[in-house]
Amino acid sequence: MLEHILSTRQFLDRNALAGIFKRAEKLESADKRGRIPKLLKDKILSCVFYEPSTRTRFSFESALLKLGGQVISTESAGHFSSAIKGETLEDSIRIISGYSDIIVLRHYEAGAAERAAKVSSVPVINAGDGSGEHPTQALLDLYTIKKEIGRVDNFKIAMAGDLLCGRTVHSLIYLLSASRNVEIRLVSPRELRLPEKYKSFLKSREMKFFESDRLEEVLPKIDVLYMTRIQKERFSSARLYERVKNSFVLDGKMLAKLNKHAVIMHPLPRVNEISRVVDSDKRAAYFRQAKNGLYIRMALLSFLADGLLSRRKI
Ligand code: CP
Repeated sequence: MLEHILSTRQFLDRNALAGIFKRAEKLESADKRGRIPKLLKDKILSCVFYEPSTRTRFSFESALLKLGGQVISTESAGHFSSAIKGETLEDSIRIISGYSDIIVLRHYEAGAAERAAKVSSVPVINAGDGSGEHPTQALLDLYTIKKEIGRVDNFKIAMAGDLLCGRTVHSLIYLLSASRNVEIRLVSPRELRLPEKYKSFLKSREMKFFESDRLEEVLPKIDVLYMTRIQKERFSSARLYERVKNSFVLDGKMLAKLNKHAVIMHPLPRVNEISRVVDSDKRAAYFRQAKNGLYIRMALLSFLADGLLSRRKI
């Protein structure tokens, strides 16, 4: 069965989510024992990245290699593919889907993965589409919350930083609607507030959320702090970026205000928003979070190979 992974709105079924998390746990345990089943033997993954990446591309490539498959990729598709000669995304994907079994696509335009999926003869995974979504990141984020605080329900989370363009935030907002009794604090400068369509979604799911521009006020009250980078590459005004870039910095002083049971997450990369002094605090989970991405992506690839993910209209 042909399936694509385009949005976390495809993953709001709690049983399906539990199945993905269970498979990720099994694959992590198998990895530790050096006994990963070669579920994707003879399969070829194409990583087509029009924007830079460290975690997403390396973890997808590592995931497929560990599962016995092979990888072909371009890390700067805008320059090192025929896009530079004017080839459209659609034409490139038509061609690449003839050479591979799964395509992982990162692109600078929101909606690019959906466009690619329309013309691809193989599954397309959205690895980040501009300011749109980053669904596999949100899946590994919720998996990390489960591992770190022991539950996917009944918690308070603050999301801080660039909520306007932060695609990981957008995907996580959708995904958190699968959890029960989650309260969300949206912490951003006024110029970088969460777009209305995500707030409408939260309202439609009757989820509690509050907007704020003061991180220090929410720190004592939350179970999960989800920091994000103010993304220079998304700004058309250099002056605005300079004004807001250091809006929220989790340094030693701010860390002292954080609930002592809270967990600190960040999709990474970070710039200044989490000081290096935080890294040694046991609440800092962002490096563990990045490692979880490997097992979530292995689980997703194995489900795709099985054709077990059920496609939902988005
Ligand atoms: N979190 C994330 O998407 O990181 P990369 O941009 O390095 O892939």
